[in-house]
Amino acid sequence: MARDFEAVLKGKYPAKAHARRVVEQIRKSKPGANGVIYLEARMTKMQEDNDSPEPFRQRRYFYYLTGCNLPDCCFAYDIRSARSTLFIPPIDPDEVVWSGLPLSVTEALKLYDVDEVKFTNEVNAALTHLAKEDANSTVFAIANQVSDNVTFLEFVHKDFETVKTAVEISRVVKDEFEVAMIQKANHIASHAHKAVIDRAKTAATEQELYATFLERCVSHSAPEMPYHPIVASGRAAATLHYVDNNASLNGKLNVLIDAGCEWNNYASDITRTFPLTGKFTKETRDIYDIVLRMQKECTGRIKGGVSWDELHLHAHKIAIEGLVALGVLKGDAQEILDARTSAAFFPHGLGHHLGMDTHDTGGNPNPNDPDKLFRYLRLRGTVPTGSVVTVEPGVYFCDFIIKPYLEDPAHSKYINSKVLDKYWDVGGIRIEDNIHVTKDGFENLTTAIKEVAEVEAAAARN
Ligand code: GLY
Ligand code: MN
Ligand code: MN
Repeated sequence: MARDFEAVLKGKYPAKAHARRVVEQIRKSKPGANGVIYLEARMTKMQEDNDSPEPFRQRRYFYYLTGCNLPDCCFAYDIRSARSTLFIPPIDPDEVVWSGLPLSVTEALKLYDVDEVKFTNEVNAALTHLAKEDANSTVFAIANQVSDNVTFLEFVHKDFETVKTAVEISRVVKDEFEVAMIQKANHIASHAHKAVIDRAKTAATEQELYATFLERCVSHSAPEMPYHPIVASGRAAATLHYVDNNASLNGKLNVLIDAGCEWNNYASDITRTFPLTGKFTKETRDIYDIVLRMQKECTGRIKGGVSWDELHLHAHKIAIEGLVALGVLKGDAQEILDARTSAAFFPHGLGHHLGMDTHDTGGNPNPNDPDKLFRYLRLRGTVPTGSVVTVEPGVYFCDFIIKPYLEDPAHSKYINSKVLDKYWDVGGIRIEDNIHVTKDGFENLTTAIKEVAEVEAAAARN
């Protein structure tokens, strides 16, 4: 049954369940471990040579165990008693005139899934008390994420590594609440993608489309972007992380937009490509069909435990089959795959874990892989049930990337440059959805339109 994500989100962020999960992970590497987990929020930091604070982005380790999105807080979790304490900043009368009253203890207890709320000026006393309860006490904290004024004096052992890894591993498998948050972020961003297609009918520049995307997200209470949106028209779409977003749309065939939003720190990451004229040209349609097939077939093979390397390889096989059928590539498909020539057109990985970070924890990439087909894959090995991944194949016509292939006989023998020349103006096509991995299959969290008929109907200029 489809999840009613709005209903799920009426509950509290499950911070205590996350703390239990993290302890379970800690005990995998330190059997029987007890002690205190201590984490800090991101502290307010001023901009260089300026009296305004830097934009705030919560520390993900802290958020995972608290669900609290405030700066200048800290958190302690006593493993033995399974009791959590959130420390919030006390009232600073000088600050109230500028920033208003801070959250009260009562309000914080209502909002967050913690057992107790105290003020940050009580943290050393509270930690001392917890340490003294155990003759062999350990504090688990993160290196370089402990304020100078916080002393772990009474703790016999100080461990600055284990909890970081434990949180990173715990984050891979999402619970129902986290999936609902990612789904909400998808719901908003999918509407924003549609608004961008509408706006493209009258817009003259990429930045108008960029502004439309932001406007929709902010209007729907999702003001934070998990990454800088990519709004690339024409050949700029072949630059994977194009950030200028300011070129004229005049004379361009397509727009590639890779943009998501955050819902309380949980991200969506969606890419769509649509024709500015309202109708795909033959060449764009040729490539769009290949990429859509890569995207759908790879998604269709997803289930808990699937090998991501295999899926990535499958995407390359479809790309090769499609480009051979068009005549861009020529020769035996297996030979082309073995030569890694398809990397000229699909130079990045099939996808990555998605959660609080766009490229979420647990992907185990190997940037030094001697096989260039896998070097940029941000997710390696098997994909666990309960994780959320992106599926984002693409085919691009980037002269900087393709030229060395044309100059290397090991590859050029597989490329028909006359046919290739018809495709440069397609730029690049990428289609990216966010997929919840289930035991026997998958759940697509992205609702932005992607079928050719739907996209053309939405982009049509009447
Ligand atoms: N938007 C960044 C990515 O797709 O990985
Ligand atoms: Mn992505
Ligand atoms: Mn993306």
